[in-house]
Amino acid sequence: MRTKTGIILAAGKGKRLDSQNTIKPLVHVGGKPLIDWNIGYMEEIGIKHIYIVIGCKGKLVKNYILSNDYNGIKFEFINNPNWENGILSSLLSLDRFIPNDSIFLSPCDTFFEKSPYRYFLKKDLKDNGIVSLISEYNNHANNSGANLIIKEANHGKIFPSKLSDGYDGISTGIYYFNNKMLSKSIQFAKKNKEISNFFELINYLSNKKLLKLRYFENCEWFDINTPSVRIRTEMFLRKNSVSINVDSKNKLMEKPFNTFTTKKEVKTDIFVRTGCLNNIDQFDLIPESHSQSPHFIIMDENIETLFGDNIFRKIKSSGYNIKKIVLPPGEKTKSLYYYSVLTEKIISEGIDEKTILISLGGGITNNITGFLASTLYRGIYLIHIPTTLMAQSDAAIGIKQAVDGDKGKNLIGSYFEPMKIIVDPSVLLNSNIKWLRDGLAECIKHAIAQSPEFYKYFIDYKGNIKDLEFLDFVVKRNIELKTKLMKDDPKEKREALVLQYGHTVGHAVEYLSGYKLGHGESVAIGMVAAAQISETLGICDKELVNSHRRVLKKYKLPFTIPANIKIDDILIALRYNKRYLYDDVQFVLLNAIGSLWDYKGDYSIPCNNNIIKESLKSCYD
Ligand SMILES: NC(=O)c1ccc[n+]([C@@H]2O[C@H](COP(=O)([O-])OP(=O)(O)OC[C@H]3O[C@@H](n4cnc5c(N)ncnc54)[C@H](O)[C@@H]3O)[C@@H](O)[C@H]2O)c1
Repeated sequence: MRTKTGIILAAGKGKRLDSQNTIKPLVHVGGKPLIDWNIGYMEEIGIKHIYIVIGCKGKLVKNYILSNDYNGIKFEFINNPNWENGILSSLLSLDRFIPNDSIFLSPCDTFFEKSPYRYFLKKDLKDNGIVSLISEYNNHANNSGANLIIKEANHGKIFPSKLSDGYDGISTGIYYFNNKMLSKSIQFAKKNKEISNFFELINYLSNKKLLKLRYFENCEWFDINTPSVRIRTEMFLRKNSVSINVDSKNKLMEKPFNTFTTKKEVKTDIFVRTGCLNNIDQFDLIPESHSQSPHFIIMDENIETLFGDNIFRKIKSSGYNIKKIVLPPGEKTKSLYYYSVLTEKIISEGIDEKTILISLGGGITNNITGFLASTLYRGIYLIHIPTTLMAQSDAAIGIKQAVDGDKGKNLIGSYFEPMKIIVDPSVLLNSNIKWLRDGLAECIKHAIAQSPEFYKYFIDYKGNIKDLEFLDFVVKRNIELKTKLMKDDPKEKREALVLQYGHTVGHAVEYLSGYKLGHGESVAIGMVAAAQISETLGICDKELVNSHRRVLKKYKLPFTIPANIKIDDILIALRYNKRYLYDDVQFVLLNAIGSLWDYKGDYSIPCNNNIIKESLKSCYD
């Protein structure tokens, strides 16, 4: 291609982007500033000379570019003091500088899967006039974030259109100006009072039959004007493994010598029966094939006093070789310290490959016992008997086992299937109201994230929460909602990420409160934070945030971040989360009650510090 000159319009502020203090050309996508992508596309077709029109914080752009090496490209910076007047003002500022050469013109805020210039044809580059690169209308183009929809009339004449009027394509903002056409266009714009913006200029050129359209397809592209388009671009890059930091070209791609895959399908039965723990000796708890092995039942001190010791005695008197292990209550027990104390204790007491660990208690007991069962002898057997609402509706209903690390919750763990889960909702009546509320937060999470009907049930319910009928219904409905997700996505990588709703900020505030906030209380705050993020990104309206607040307030759950937990500390805590990837934290977000926001089936939404910070500001009293 013989054109050696390019122009990038980089004068605007980009106030709709999330990075409050970063101007649009320098906003990062895929690990590098947007302007770098645009320079890269030009470099790819051999452009050697680029004019960059700067305006808002122009020095920053200039310094950034001059501090980088772009393979010998020559840059000239043109200042546009009137940048606030839009693209046409940038074009006019070029008046004294432009060469007579043909020129490619590009905005600074587009991202293309491949260099867009390769779509111009040889004949385009010979014509007089200008050529505009148009994305054929298709589903992707419609989601590109670009807003100049065009309709083509005869002879390439174009006019801006609305969806309802029909359209032929979407303008990418990339143009080819043949020799002298840019200076001619500038003169047209200067002389004609009716041309007050860039599109009017294009329209004028099209009326004079000086405009041609070049349609292209099969290339994803984004006009990065809003936070949600920026995020869609990040997700596109991730999905397509477009890695800009790793030079994979020079790596040896050796074929493996051999390969194996393992597939293990384990069925977990969940029994829910009110009062069943009173008659545990009549229950088929330990399968016959395990009856000769040594077993352990693990509980905390509170459970031991309330009913745990009774249950242990009943199982033992049925003839099983079972030992009881009692732990101090509280999150501190879910630690590597207790994990290692317990491994040594259990191994020295003696186990075999059919040994079952039974966890009797809340989520803490279930989680540490599950992790022990998954690691002792590389995996023995596990039965959960959850006794809190949190555990009956969430912690025990699944395969995630874990202990906390020094830097955060659940940092060390495994995926391990219990052989069965036994749920007796009547034990919840022993719970104090604080713990019931705490568990209710996870149930409300299922409702908000998965089921508008269940949400309505919570809003409409008039009774007491310490009511067996209510608890029985809520537990069963939760188990149904959770197992529905577990069946298809047990490791919570796709749609089951819904279970993580509210957990990103939730885990951080729980940790920063020194575990004074319960897990459910923290998730309640985290859900409001997630809804605020959705609102910041423009993917939902304020009503979604209000719906969260309404239901949490009704059940006396917290919905604001305590004043002593600072935003900066939350941002640091978020880094110690497996959802921290590259420079972004991954969030699960909703765009309505019961509706997860996704990008082509990817539910893990990358948000940068600016979006999070901005959103968290609205989460304080
Ligand atoms: N793995 C997962 O998928 C998952 C999901 C949700 C929560 N969790 C974890 O669960 C833990 C929180 O669980 P939790 O809220 O059940 O806490 P918990 O286990 O500490 O139980 C709360 C308190 O209630 C007491 N208790 C338990 N059952 C009782 C009963 N029937 N009557 C009276 N008192 C009773 C306990 O002794 C404890 O003091 C957190 O560590 C959280 O990370 C894990």
